[in-house]
Amino acid sequence: MLRRGKLSRQPLGNVFFHKLEVFLPQREKQSRGYNDEVQFSLRDFRADDFTTLWEIDQRCFAPGIAYSRRELSSYIRRRDSFTIVAEQAATADGKSTVAGFIVAEANGKVGHVISIDVLPASRRSGLGSKLLLTAEDRLRSLDCRNVVLETAVDNTAALAFYKRQGYSVLKVHPRYYSNGVDAFVLGKSLAQPSTLTPTG
Ligand SMILES: CC(C)(COP(=O)(O)OP(=O)(O)OC[C@H]1O[C@@H](n2cnc3c(N)ncnc32)[C@H](O)[C@@H]1OP(=O)(O)O)[C@@H](O)C(=O)NCCC(=O)NCCS
Repeated sequence: MLRRGKLSRQPLGNVFFHKLEVFLPQREKQSRGYNDEVQFSLRDFRADDFTTLWEIDQRCFAPGIAYSRRELSSYIRRRDSFTIVAEQAATADGKSTVAGFIVAEANGKVGHVISIDVLPASRRSGLGSKLLLTAEDRLRSLDCRNVVLETAVDNTAALAFYKRQGYSVLKVHPRYYSNGVDAFVLGKSLAQPSTLTPTG
């Protein structure tokens, strides 16, 4: 994700793809264990979602890495960005709750995932995959051939997640984050239509 760093706009040609499993400790290869029955629906961002999304981001990332209101607002409002919001199906009282979101943008032929956030209680239910694949489909429809993103080298959950989705390491940005942690730039070709990877 783009966190107080520089936007990577380089095309993917001529870049060696490293296999992500090299960087993953064995314990991140555990299988799904809960949340299998939860239903989510996706829709486009509405202005009145903003505070909820910002609060979710505060819960998903450490202070200093989580976005300020201003940062999140600027990414959501970028001319070529889009934001997809996931809602948990309405309960008996008719209320649905936001469980996660993704912000992405099309930079010409290269798509860029700016952030993906799923609340802890909704993780390992396939929601992150659903958000990511829906964003990849949108990027395809905007003529993107590849998608790139940044993730902290110590974010082993995210690395396991992206590996499952077919991403590979393109390069390392030293001290990319404000806490001094390096970022991997990960990428994936959008040539193949997306399919939800069977889980379990
Ligand atoms: C990364 C994130 C979006 C994943 O969302 P999610 O809804 O849990 O993802 P899914 O349920 O679709 O996971 C799909 C697969 O990814 C892998 N995976 C996801 N989280 C994992 C974890 N904590 N440990 C190991 N593997 C994991 C698994 O292979 C999983 O399939 P399985 O559950 O059948 O084993 C979520 O953990 C999150 O919001 N984290 C905080 C914010 C963040 O780090 N964002 C990404 C930064 S770039």
